[in-house]
Amino acid sequence: MTPGISIHFVDHGTFEAAVGDSILDVAMRHEVPLDHACGAVCACSTCHVRVEAGADALSEASEDEEDQLDAARDLGLDSRLGCQARLERAPAGGEVRVRIPSWNVNLVREGG
Ligand code: FES
Repeated sequence: MTPGISIHFVDHGTFEAAVGDSILDVAMRHEVPLDHACGAVCACSTCHVRVEAGADALSEASEDEEDQLDAARDLGLDSRLGCQARLERAPAGGEVRVRIPSWNVNLVREGG
């Protein structure tokens, strides 16, 4: 594991992460409620997150990811699919900060 990389999930906490981890991998390891209806194969948009800081540490979005994001609610310029955005390096600003849209959190709590 590359030392010093962590992801802060707003309202949920900060967790260690390694190069190669997707945002969803880290969320799942720490029981952060991030939906992933298609099983992380880029065929839904339920793992949509907003990357508020540290996007430079993440893999670039593929065309498939951008297509899925077009269908996501609450879309912004900082939107990513949690299962597709992978850590490639430590963020220049020292922090990757991720916000899970509140409708998505509710979806998980209600069991879909
Ligand atoms: S879990 Fe379906 S696209 Fe990420």
